[in-house]
Amino acid sequence: PRVVVLFGGRSGEHSVSCATAAGVLSAIDRQRYEVVPVGITRSGRWVLVDDDPAALELAEGRPPVEITEEGTGRGTVTLPQGGRGCVLVALPGQPPRELAVDVVLPLLHGPYGEDGTVQGLLEMAGLRYVGCGVLASAAGMDKQVTKVLLGAAGIPTVPHVVVSPRTWRRDPELVLDACEALDYPLFVKPCRAGSSLGITKVDRAQDLSAAITAASAVDPKVLVESGVQAREIEVAVLGGRDGQAPRVAEPGEVLMDPEQGAGDFYDYQTKYLAHDAVSMVCPAPLRSEERELLRDTAARAFDALGGEGLMRVDFFLTAQGQALVNEVNTMPGFTPYSMYPYMWQVSGTDYTSLVSELIELALE
Ligand code: DAL
Ligand code: MG
Repeated sequence: PRVVVLFGGRSGEHSVSCATAAGVLSAIDRQRYEVVPVGITRSGRWVLVDDDPAALELAEGRPPVEITEEGTGRGTVTLPQGGRGCVLVALPGQPPRELAVDVVLPLLHGPYGEDGTVQGLLEMAGLRYVGCGVLASAAGMDKQVTKVLLGAAGIPTVPHVVVSPRTWRRDPELVLDACEALDYPLFVKPCRAGSSLGITKVDRAQDLSAAITAASAVDPKVLVESGVQAREIEVAVLGGRDGQAPRVAEPGEVLMDPEQGAGDFYDYQTKYLAHDAVSMVCPAPLRSEERELLRDTAARAFDALGGEGLMRVDFFLTAQGQALVNEVNTMPGFTPYSMYPYMWQVSGTDYTSLVSELIELALE
């Protein structure tokens, strides 16, 4: 089958997406799949990119990777109207030609990629793709909508206040008053973003307003959440074959070491640049009832959101054994060093097989 590997994109996680693509391009089974790497520039243009994983890796001390039209020069890609299951490839100086595509692997994180928009575009073009559909992607991207859907399924999340742009503009005092019911430290988050971009930990009430303003620069809809004293446990879910129930890997734990440069919380710097500061432990040391609760809740969250293909469900596990869902990711970080593939590797599915499995699920 011919696979379009799509990455980069318009979100703040552009470079993270490139790193994810680097991993997939270096490991995808080339005997089985013909790969067409397509990058999306920050302005949203689709361009053919060299099949060179090393150029796409994210590294400390190196400028963030960026897909640019000039940097590739190999041609552009557009989608034809009419749902024909192909893309139009235009090489420099040549008219566009149709290229039939079996499946698209949208390795995109954040808005315009993980939020249902690209999924909708692919549906319109009659292209099959890996991962969640339009609704689950859109719901999973929005931390507030995620809470509503999980709450309806009886799955607990963290206490919060939603700050709409209208209320914040008209009556900020009302918002600040509502936040008094929450427990400090507060976490102020853009509703639709990833990799902790735009998130501030707030220790003092006088800093709340600035944090809300900072988050609203990333997304006008903002969440203010209570901080919870808890372990951070992540659970990988993979769609079932032939309509079977989703499969769940061994839970993994994120451990941070401030001595090694970890931030005050699991922020962008800590996630991607301070490699010695974070360790992923999988299987996480858990009591059997905690392990069961986490795995069962992750599968229920996947179903509650209408998940397909893959999802990473991130939890706070309290000392009392309560599993609160922090958030979900419908296209979790997917470098060979990322938690999602690592949890599957520990659970018996190596990276290359995982990529194949995701593609086969989409082709099913
Ligand atoms: N949003 C990033 C990629 C993650 O959750 O892994
Ligand atoms: Mg997370």
